[in-house]
Amino acid sequence: MPFDFDELIDRHGTHSTKWDDIGRVLQDPAPDTIPMWVADMDFRSPPAVNEAGSALADHGVHGYFGDDSGYKNAMADWLARRHGWAVDTDWMTHTHGIVSALALSIQAFSEPGDGVVVFSPVYHMFAHMVHANQRRLIESPLKQIQGRYEMDLDGLKGQIDKATKIVLLCSPHNPGGRVWSAAELRALADFCLENDLILVSDEIHQDLVFEGAKHQVTATVAPQIMDRLITCVAGTKTFNIAGALTGTTLISNPEMREAFRARKMAAGLPANNRFGMVACESAYREGGPWLDALLPYLQGNRDRFDAFVAENLPGIRSMHLEATYLAWLDFSGTGLPQQEIYERIERKARIAINRGDKFGTGGENWVRFNFACPRARLDEALDRLAEAFA
Ligand SMILES: Cc1ncc(COP(=O)(O)O)c(C=O)c1O
Repeated sequence: MPFDFDELIDRHGTHSTKWDDIGRVLQDPAPDTIPMWVADMDFRSPPAVNEAGSALADHGVHGYFGDDSGYKNAMADWLARRHGWAVDTDWMTHTHGIVSALALSIQAFSEPGDGVVVFSPVYHMFAHMVHANQRRLIESPLKQIQGRYEMDLDGLKGQIDKATKIVLLCSPHNPGGRVWSAAELRALADFCLENDLILVSDEIHQDLVFEGAKHQVTATVAPQIMDRLITCVAGTKTFNIAGALTGTTLISNPEMREAFRARKMAAGLPANNRFGMVACESAYREGGPWLDALLPYLQGNRDRFDAFVAENLPGIRSMHLEATYLAWLDFSGTGLPQQEIYERIERKARIAINRGDKFGTGGENWVRFNFACPRARLDEALDRLAEAFA
């Protein structure tokens, strides 16, 4: 195999949040705790990314970054090739990662006290950014239909008011790994049009989609929403460069784009990160074969995880992921209190996880496990889980 995803790479002492900062989610973790929380992967990035990084280091002068046309063209080319989306590079504005794009969107297109909709349970930073900006969080609970999530737009209709301004969509969805269908995205776009809402489509997980599913780009399947749409894209999840904190918003409406840029400037964020730009450009240009090798490996991990849970963990159910490497497990069938579930995973099995209740309504008694690691480590974690819940 040209890329070795089985290699166990020691990440201790590398300023890794996931490995060196477990204390953020788990006090006094056992030394052999397996970190399956933060969404990055225990794999090396594509060789082209690391070569580009080495070239930067070899040159040795790390001044301000200028001329982002290479990055923009590489991203546009990727979006056209991989997702059938022909974009104008003028639509692009770069941000310090996608969480910052979400925050700037909230600031640019709503006022304190206004309502912002999220479909819960969802990546916890969505709610966090709403609260941190003193907006009103409107949680639209996802319904579980035949074991997977669906939006409830009829229910949402009764929750919004005139001061509701924005919908934050996670597409594909984290957690639960739903790839929203074109019909679902069209219905959401129509809902936003009817109710005068801005739609922020966070598509950071767009490339991490498994066989049998295909990411639907909101802008292409629901073009009616283009004038009120902010699409967030980044190469950082796809190519495991999360530490580069580099993302891009695509906004075709010129007034909205200017408003977004004005807000970004007001936040004192005029420039781009040299390392992020260079890393992501090289990834978009040359990382395709690496990603094509990674996806079957991740899919193998997903299938291993699901099969193990079904066979060895009675009362625990894994939601079948169409996308993302973030397994989402429902422990409610164990009948155990939530705290006991967390204790068994974190203390007995010694696995650092994301507790489901942090993802909002509907996340209670669920747990998110990041399985983007070598299979041997995954197997060790699964054995520990079986023992902890025996
Ligand atoms: C849906 C979603 N958006 C954004 C992010 C983080 O983006 P960034 O690190 O670029 O701020 C994550 C990370 O897990 C995510 O799952």
